[in-house]
Amino acid sequence: MIGRTNNSASHNGSRPTPDLSKPILSVESLTVSFDGFTVLDELDLAIGYGEMRFLIGPNGAGKTTLIDVITGKSKPTKGRIIFDGTTDLSRRQEYQLVRLGVGRKFQTPAIFSSLTVYQNLEVTLGFRSRITGLLRKLRQGDGDRIMSTLEEVGLQHRAQDIAGGLSHGEKQWLEIGMLLVQEPKLLLLDEPVAGMTRRERDRTGELLQSIGGARSVLVVEHDMDFVRQFAQTVTVLHLGKVLSEGTMEEVQQDPEVVRAYLGNSRSQRPQAGRLNGRREAEHAAPVAAD
Ligand SMILES: Nc1ncnc2c1ncn2[C@@H]1O[C@H](COP(=O)(O)OP(=O)(O)OP(=O)(O)O)[C@@H](O)[C@H]1O
Ligand SMILES: [Mg+2]
Repeated sequence: MIGRTNNSASHNGSRPTPDLSKPILSVESLTVSFDGFTVLDELDLAIGYGEMRFLIGPNGAGKTTLIDVITGKSKPTKGRIIFDGTTDLSRRQEYQLVRLGVGRKFQTPAIFSSLTVYQNLEVTLGFRSRITGLLRKLRQGDGDRIMSTLEEVGLQHRAQDIAGGLSHGEKQWLEIGMLLVQEPKLLLLDEPVAGMTRRERDRTGELLQSIGGARSVLVVEHDMDFVRQFAQTVTVLHLGKVLSEGTMEEVQQDPEVVRAYLGNSRSQRPQAGRLNGRREAEHAAPVAAD
């Protein structure tokens, strides 16, 4: 994974070419505490250029907190987050992340419901220059960029439709499009297929696969069928630490992982059976690889 060619378009051509043999994201001894409660505990994690990494773990493991810290929403107590070779993201503010090439998608789609699909991407490009205090005017080529992004997320036929009328899945793809149009190098997606139909879920998996390779993607997901279908490498987070890493088959067979999912998480919500993609009430037997 690490060391693949990075063929993503860069919107920051003045920066030195990164060493692609190193990860695009290197989380080093990252610790986050809230009121003395340690949520991330000396966490180490590396994601390669062009890699799509899945992050799983029981409720309260610290997955969203990790994304919050990477994107500047929360500050670490200790540790570094080295992005693209040189930038320590832990020293950056949330508003600087887009310009650096990091895009984040929350679970609930944050779209402009009363605008058309096309306008949503237009506005996103405008917002990109908020750092200057101005809503930038659209440039030549932006129209092509918007249309090719809509094609990428499969919404070109919906370009002139009002976004509020899209299905749940289409809204999620629109928001992914709003990230892609800004040409990120790294995308962070928190539970992107939650609430989707099976068909929408499969299309999202294909979309993520097409995004990966050109850009790096970190996907937090609870839907184990989805992870099994689309993940190459899975990192399991538990109690703020990396518990296991490997293919889905490998982590499913890791006794530590089985224990973590069978035990109660910090939030005291039972996790049994979720690693198998089934509910506890339906299936409380030990986890087995498919
Ligand atoms: N701002 C905060 N202040 C205090 N505690 C917090 C804060 N944010 C998160 N936590 C706690 O940190 C722990 C990890 O939360 P986090 O949301 O990162 O878990 P998660 O792995 O994303 O869980 P889920 O799978 O349920 O989304 C939880 O116990 C949570 O209550
Ligand atoms: Mg979460």
